[in-house]
Amino acid sequence: MPRILVTGGAGYIGSHTAHLLRRRGYETTIVDDLSRGHAHNVEGFPFHRLNLRDTAALTAILREGSFDAVIHFAAFIAVGESAQAPELYFLNNTGGSFSLLEAMATAGINRLVFSSTAAVYGTPESTPIPEDARIAPVSPYGESKVMVERALEWMDRYRGLRSVVLRYFNACGADPESPLGEEHDPETHLIPLLLRAVLTSEPVTIFGEDYPTDDGTCIRDYIHVRDLAEAHILAVDHLLRGGASKVYNAGVGQGYSVKEVIRAVEGVTGRSVPFRVGPRREGDPPALVASSTRLQTELGWKPKYTSLAAIVETAWRFASRQAR
Ligand code: UFG
Repeated sequence: MPRILVTGGAGYIGSHTAHLLRRRGYETTIVDDLSRGHAHNVEGFPFHRLNLRDTAALTAILREGSFDAVIHFAAFIAVGESAQAPELYFLNNTGGSFSLLEAMATAGINRLVFSSTAAVYGTPESTPIPEDARIAPVSPYGESKVMVERALEWMDRYRGLRSVVLRYFNACGADPESPLGEEHDPETHLIPLLLRAVLTSEPVTIFGEDYPTDDGTCIRDYIHVRDLAEAHILAVDHLLRGGASKVYNAGVGQGYSVKEVIRAVEGVTGRSVPFRVGPRREGDPPALVASSTRLQTELGWKPKYTSLAAIVETAWRFASRQAR
């Protein structure tokens, strides 16, 4: 079976993908510095605790493991934090990725799946957003990913590095077949915060209800983490078959407003969500919805979690287990 190195495999999307790879028989090794991820997510895996910027150590791991491909998740993900400390994002996300590219070139590994983000589009001119929409990030986080995407184009041309870039929309939910789930600290994402509000009765703040949408709250494309993990497996298989470099949106193509998500949480939990309405959060575009036809038609990806209720159900199971 193919040998895959997963960077950031202790994090939310990385751990879900690593576990799915292993269940499907891929020989899966994880690299993570555990600065944001969790040691319990890598239990039972060959694991190296390492910051990607340690190029020499990373090169040695890549050489010794004779990997067929790398799936690169390791990154900071908080848009707000990236505005407070842009240097951190450029150093960790862009710098870490560039170090990985050098290590891969030295070790002669030329297949990479890269975690990018819908944040590369900034505030899109229209939705659904196709992959060839204007790239115009409005946060250092988004820019830190754009810089890597650009480098990958040059690495393809001059180094023969084949890559699949997946631009994630709003990853959420938890794997029903493993103990994994969303555990960011601090948590900034909507669904876990709504579930926490239900569990603690502490109100959550809706960031603005004066957006130009039907109910005034922001619209996002919520993609279940398990469906996202499947997209990575299809992406790596594409590269292992000798496929060309590609860029795909990873979203379902269906948008839900914050208030619709609240109603879904109330439906699943059977309890009301305590909330208050606050001001807008800086940098939040009114609507981010993917055109996901390219991923579906070219790689045969088909999301299984197409209803918000089904997504929230898995997140609720995880959150209530954690609260016990
Ligand atoms: N929201 C609230 N209150 C909260 C938290 C979120 O109203 O306490 C709203 C946000 O304003 C937004 C929506 O819920 O409208 C979703 O917010 P999240 O923070 O869960 O997710 P974002 O859409 O801001 O960002 C996520 C990832 C980014 C990625 C983006 C792509 O965190 O890395 O999706 O769509 F770029």
